[in-house]
Amino acid sequence: MKKDRILVTGGTGYIGSHTVVELQEAGYPVVIVDNLSNSNRDVVDGIEKITGIRPDFVEADCTDLAAMEKLFSDYPDIKGIINFAASKAVGESMQKPILYYRNNLNTLMNLLDMMAKYGTKGIVFSSSCTVYGEPDENPVTESAPIKKATSPYGNTKQISEEIIEDVIRAGAPFKSVILRYFNPVGAHPSALIGELPNGVPQNLIPFVTQTAMGIRKELSVFGNDYNTPDGSCIRDYINVVDLAKAHVIAVERMLEDKSEAPVEIFNLGTGVGLSVLELIDSFERSTGVKVPRKIVGRRAGDIEKVWANPKHANDVLGWKAETPIDDTMKSAWAWQCALRERGIM
Ligand code: UD1
Repeated sequence: MKKDRILVTGGTGYIGSHTVVELQEAGYPVVIVDNLSNSNRDVVDGIEKITGIRPDFVEADCTDLAAMEKLFSDYPDIKGIINFAASKAVGESMQKPILYYRNNLNTLMNLLDMMAKYGTKGIVFSSSCTVYGEPDENPVTESAPIKKATSPYGNTKQISEEIIEDVIRAGAPFKSVILRYFNPVGAHPSALIGELPNGVPQNLIPFVTQTAMGIRKELSVFGNDYNTPDGSCIRDYINVVDLAKAHVIAVERMLEDKSEAPVEIFNLGTGVGLSVLELIDSFERSTGVKVPRKIVGRRAGDIEKVWANPKHANDVLGWKAETPIDDTMKSAWAWQCALRERGIM
C-alpha cells in the first residue's frame, strides 16, 4: 500500500537527515524543507546514497508564511509533519533571543496554520529534556515538573509545547506527538550523514571527535566537583539512529489513528546516565584513539545530572534505544574520519 507523504522540516540537519533515512526505509515518500542555515544541500546526496531514493527538497524558511503556503499547495498529499526546523545553540540564544523566539515559534505557528488549512493529520515536535531543568529525581518521567527555562532556547521548547496543547485544545483537527530528546549523539553507520561542524563545537561529542582528530588541542571537561560518582556531569546519550526510528513510529501512530490522546509526550533516552569521563572512556576504548583532556571549572548553566525513564516510550511506542554506547562512539569517530576524507574538517 502506498504510504502518505511526510514533510520533514529541518530535514537536512543532524537529527532530521537521520529521520528522513528511516522514513524512506519504512516506505514513506518525504519532502524536506530547510533554509540551509545550519546544514548543507549535499546532505540530500548522502540520504540518496544510503536509501537509493532522493527525497524531494525545497529550500525555504519555515518562518516565511507565503513560502509555506506554496509548499503545502505544491504538495497537497502531505499527511504528517516532523518539525526539526529550529535554532538550537543554548549560548547563542542568550545573545540573540529574538532570533530564537522568531525562528522557533513562528515556524511552529506557521506549520500549525497550514495543517488546519490543508488537512494534515499530525505533527511530531522535537522537544528536549531541557524542559525538566535540574530534575528533583532521576531517572526523569514525563510527569516530572517543568522548571523555569534557563535560556531562550529552552524557553522556546516549553512555549512550543504549550502552543501545541492550546491549539489542539481549541479544537484544531489534528494530533501531535511531542518527543523530549535527551542527548543525541553518533552518526549513521554508513558515515554518509552525521552532525555537520559549525565553528567551535559547544556540544561534547563533536568536541571529543575533533580533539581526537587533532583539530582541537584538548578537551575541557567542565567540572569534576559535582555530586556524582566521579564528579563530572551525567547525561543520557542516545544514538541518533535509534532516536530517528522513534519518529517513524510517532508519525505512523497519528496517521493510523492509534494515538491515545490528541497530544502525547514521550521521553526519548536510553535510561542510563553516563558521566562526561565515562563517555570519554567509552570513546577511547571503542576507537583506540586518545582524547587529550584537562579538567576546568564548571560551565555556567549546566545541569548536574539528568537521565530518562524511557518506560512510557518503551511500552506505548514499542520503541527502545538499542545501540550500545561503544558502537555509537565508533560511529561518531567514523563520521569524523569521513569529514576529514572529504576535506571538510
Ligand atoms: C545542551 C542543552 C540542551 C540542548 C543540547 C543540544 C543545556 C543545559 N542543555 O545539553 O538543552 O538540547 O545542548 O544542543 O545547555 N561538556 C564538557 N566539555 C565540552 C562540552 C561539554 O565537559 O567541551 C560537558 C557538559 O558540561 C555536559 C556534557 O558535556 O555535562 C554534555 O554537554 P552538551 O553536549 O553541551 O549537552 P548539554 O549541556 O547536556
